[in-house]
Amino acid sequence: MGSSCMHAFAVIGIVCTAAISLAILLFVWRLVKVYVLARPLKLHADLKEMGSWAVVTALKVSCHVTKATDGIGKQYALHLAELGLNIVLVGRSPEKLKATEDEVRARGNVQVKTVVVDCSGGREIYADVERELSELEIGVLVNNVGMAYPGLYSDFLAISRDYHADMINVNNLSYVMMTHIVLPQMISRKRGTIVNISSDSARVPYPFLATYSATKAFVDFLTRSLETELQGTGVIIQGVLPGFVATKMSLEDVSFYCPSASVYVRSALTTIGVQSRTSGYLVHALQVLLMKIVPDFVVFKFIKLEMEKRMSHPKLT
Ligand SMILES: NC(=O)c1ccc[n+]([C@@H]2O[C@H](COP(=O)([O-])OP(=O)(O)OC[C@H]3O[C@@H](n4cnc5c(N)ncnc54)[C@H](OP(=O)(O)O)[C@@H]3O)[C@@H](O)[C@H]2O)c1
Repeated sequence: MGSSCMHAFAVIGIVCTAAISLAILLFVWRLVKVYVLARPLKLHADLKEMGSWAVVTALKVSCHVTKATDGIGKQYALHLAELGLNIVLVGRSPEKLKATEDEVRARGNVQVKTVVVDCSGGREIYADVERELSELEIGVLVNNVGMAYPGLYSDFLAISRDYHADMINVNNLSYVMMTHIVLPQMISRKRGTIVNISSDSARVPYPFLATYSATKAFVDFLTRSLETELQGTGVIIQGVLPGFVATKMSLEDVSFYCPSASVYVRSALTTIGVQSRTSGYLVHALQVLLMKIVPDFVVFKFIKLEMEKRMSHPKLT
């Protein structure tokens, strides 16, 4: 009885060790495939084949701490123009759009069109956007527009109801509406790519970032649901969940774990067609691995402590 019990424990131990080793090996293989092999072996999607135009929502050149830093959207626009795609820049500020337009055009010798829209509006604002896009063959849509709390972290009640509502319109309604506008033509052409920018804060609940974190979880679920729904249509939909990227929104400087928007987007672009839900950047993927290994209650406690620390030393622009 005693020895058969020992034998059973030994078998369970071997099976568990084998399962954990296999899971780690698979994870490492996926990282190597996505972040090391995808670019040289051209495993990623050929975005130029998707259609002649790419639409990117929001594209800031932001004044970040001491220097000007590009937002993630502008870098998508520049990199897609480099690939030879004509670009539609969607943003709320005509001046910022104008400033970016020439740079994007010069980068790829491509056509650039701008659409001025404030995404904090409701569904009525999208009739104009649809009209502006109606004649274009849209191969790529990057839903990037995003709004966080002022100063990044805040008590829920310190943010006005209007601000919470605007955040939901900007971070969620715009993603649904823009996808609804471009998807029919992509499906009828049997090709196209939609990239939805979510956030690492969609993976676990973030105190002091509650509405933002919830809106990013919405984007994550929307993308994952549509990914399954669109299988077989030829349309790729990808959810991108970045950790910190050095932009005005994050209020972080470039560091080992916080790349510039340019470095981040260059990496994220090679994951399209390889990973449907991605961190977009190797160091961020390793942070996710760490979060998976550590029990949830430890992760939640760590995040809460970290947020409280950041709340007491807010970096304001
Ligand atoms: N940076 C990070 O660490 C990080 C991490 C995870 C996820 N993300 C996500 O990445 C995306 C890009 O953010 P970012 O870091 O590049 O920050 P960013 O530079 O602040 O970009 C946000 C963009 O959204 C635009 N926007 C905000 N409200 C708008 C509105 N009502 N109508 C139209 N446009 C509006 C901003 O336009 P204006 O220029 O006019 O303000 C800006 O171009 C966001 O979805 C964000 O949630 C960022």
